[in-house]
Amino acid sequence: MIKALAYLGINSPRYDDWRSFGTEFLGAQLAEKGPDGAVRLRVDDAAWRLQIHPAEADAVAYIGWAVDYEEDLDAITAKLSAAGVTAERGSEADADARNVNRLITFEDPWGFRHEVVWGQHADPASFHPGRPISGFVTGSQGLGHVLLMMPDIEAGHAFFSGVLGFELSDKIIVPGRLNARFYHANARHHTLALGQCQPGSAGLNHLMLQVNSMDDVGTAYDMAEEKGVPLTLGLGRHTNDKMFSFYCSTPSSFHIEYGFDGLEVTPGEWVPRVYGKTAIWGHQLQPGAEARPPGIMHQLSAETGATQDLAADESASAAV
Ligand SMILES: [Fe+2]
Repeated sequence: MIKALAYLGINSPRYDDWRSFGTEFLGAQLAEKGPDGAVRLRVDDAAWRLQIHPAEADAVAYIGWAVDYEEDLDAITAKLSAAGVTAERGSEADADARNVNRLITFEDPWGFRHEVVWGQHADPASFHPGRPISGFVTGSQGLGHVLLMMPDIEAGHAFFSGVLGFELSDKIIVPGRLNARFYHANARHHTLALGQCQPGSAGLNHLMLQVNSMDDVGTAYDMAEEKGVPLTLGLGRHTNDKMFSFYCSTPSSFHIEYGFDGLEVTPGEWVPRVYGKTAIWGHQLQPGAEARPPGIMHQLSAETGATQDLAADESASAAV
């Protein structure tokens, strides 16, 4: 029922750095700042898609998901309730703050705040990229995709697929190194990915933004050195979604995958697959990348962590 990634909200002390990072490097457009001084970035005609709020520490503030019909919000609320998760209906002021018509909010078992929204405001033919690029792939495919890290990927699958309805596209399992799952909600190969991490923590690894041409990726790659943007993974092409992309660190601990030519799937017809590596070629770890944070991580409560430690062990042995 969730149809796309609508927006992403981040708290960060370096929020102001996103003005230049977002526009001059990524090619996003600066929107009017938020009431708290947040930097708001557009990648299409939507009012904004990425909002970086001033804060003392990096944190994932909220992940916004779009539905096609207003009634879907009630259906998702009921599904969450049956799974023991309480969703709150946002007030009109809450909806206005996100430039949507209506929303519900809830916290998942790993402490991420989600907002499911209907009626995201857009101003047709108003987007102007922050640097000369051909633009971003959005529309029915939404903002892009996010990769969330959690210690118990089986529980993650049960929640995001079983409760929220994300459909499995594939798994990438590299024994001892990576256990990840990829889910679609529209034609984009994946809108959500889950990666298994160490017990006791969870986090946001990256946001993927897809541009319309290979040259848009290439010019950003060239500009990374000029702008002092630290690269995480060099150019490469993924096995599963065939994305031609590179990864860089943002001013706020998580990463951006900047890509072109991602695979499109047909929801309801796609048959999930399993891969043993992430890249057909490239995506080499760049110097210094391992010393930087893997993403915006947060600690899980002892109770949650204890439950998930046990399940993570089971999951690890199942993967082998
Ligand atoms: Fe990605």
